[in-house]
Amino acid sequence: MKKIIKNNVSFVGYIDWELQKFHGDDYNITSGSSQNSYLIEEEKTALIDTVWSPHSNEFVFNLKNIIDLKKIDYIIINHGEADHSGALYTLMQEIPETPIYCTEAAIKSLTGQYGEHGWRFNTVKTGDELDIGNNKKLIFIEMKMLHWPDSMATYLTQDNILFSMDAFGQHLATQELFNNRVNQELLYKEAIKYFANILNPFAPLITKKLTELKSLNLPIDIIAPSHGAIWLKDPLQIVDAYEKWSNSYQEDQITIAYESMWGATAKLAQMIADEINTQNPNTKIKLFNISKSDKTEVMAEVFKSRAIAVGAPTCLNSIPSSVSGWLAYLKSLKFKGKKAAAFGCYGWSGGSVKILQKELQEAGFKVADTGVAPLWSPKDEDISNIKNMVSELIKIFSVCNRGYFFNLHSLESIMTFMSPKSHANVI
Ligand code: FEO
Repeated sequence: MKKIIKNNVSFVGYIDWELQKFHGDDYNITSGSSQNSYLIEEEKTALIDTVWSPHSNEFVFNLKNIIDLKKIDYIIINHGEADHSGALYTLMQEIPETPIYCTEAAIKSLTGQYGEHGWRFNTVKTGDELDIGNNKKLIFIEMKMLHWPDSMATYLTQDNILFSMDAFGQHLATQELFNNRVNQELLYKEAIKYFANILNPFAPLITKKLTELKSLNLPIDIIAPSHGAIWLKDPLQIVDAYEKWSNSYQEDQITIAYESMWGATAKLAQMIADEINTQNPNTKIKLFNISKSDKTEVMAEVFKSRAIAVGAPTCLNSIPSSVSGWLAYLKSLKFKGKKAAAFGCYGWSGGSVKILQKELQEAGFKVADTGVAPLWSPKDEDISNIKNMVSELIKIFSVCNRGYFFNLHSLESIMTFMSPKSHANVI
């Protein structure tokens, strides 16, 4: 069924309540998701994006119930990744002559994934327009590397809708569709998790792109991303959030992540948490066992933190493989402006703390000189080391270099800086 977004624009995507993994097994989905596709029916009819291939038949069947497929004049592919282009092959078997509008990189992506079928591609660049009648047009805006080389957004004039593709999305299934009709805490939890795990590596580009988008002076009534809730109420709140998040964002939080073989390093992690609480009771503390926690959730907490402490015992003259993998993922997310410290117990040779410190430095963290490495298990003589390490961690270094720093609980702090309607809805 089609769900009206505004006037002649409707949602025709797939709400995926059962999805549990994304990007292979790398991203753990906890609130469902959606693959948003939109239909615009003016004098000309345009379809924006499709859905993931497992839902191809259902997508095309549903579309046929809404419209005679032959009436679709244009297909807009904002992004070639499989979750949005997966149903294109099935759709194009029905309407092979329908022109496809996308970036040059998307043509390579689509033909690479689905083969050469003589589809009628039309390459678009930033500022290119497509007239759809009734005095409305589509304007294309390249969003290169946000988060793929082929990414772009499409803007619908008159209705003032920005189809923003992956940007501003969340992995969140909602039948209600709009941001003001879902639980706000969950909405922002998923939006932050999505940003931290998918977009943060490209944060410097996001800052530039947001500046470019603003320079276009486009009035925005709705931001319609490719996943999750559509931003209808105060849509620029998510743009404001992205400005903050892409600028070395942090809150007064320290995340402790550790692995433990026989409980000693786990005990040490708890002692570090207690010491943080003693030295700075206002600092929010999150503590995770790496192999027992969802890494995407943990990384969202790392993203919000101003510092992290990572612990691992020495194992086989190295660190446990669960921690090595976790650190590789941490490195790929390119967090900036955060401090880190290392800790871990050992039985005879030791060495895990040095390995952790090196890895954390390579991941872009400013690493505390003090590490805590007790023999066998933490004892009274380790207390002063713990105090020194925590003291280094909780020092606020130049308010996150140049970023933003919030002392409140995350949702409260986000709501505070978002002050709805503090600006006209012009991006
Ligand atoms: Fe939602 Fe980059 O695909």
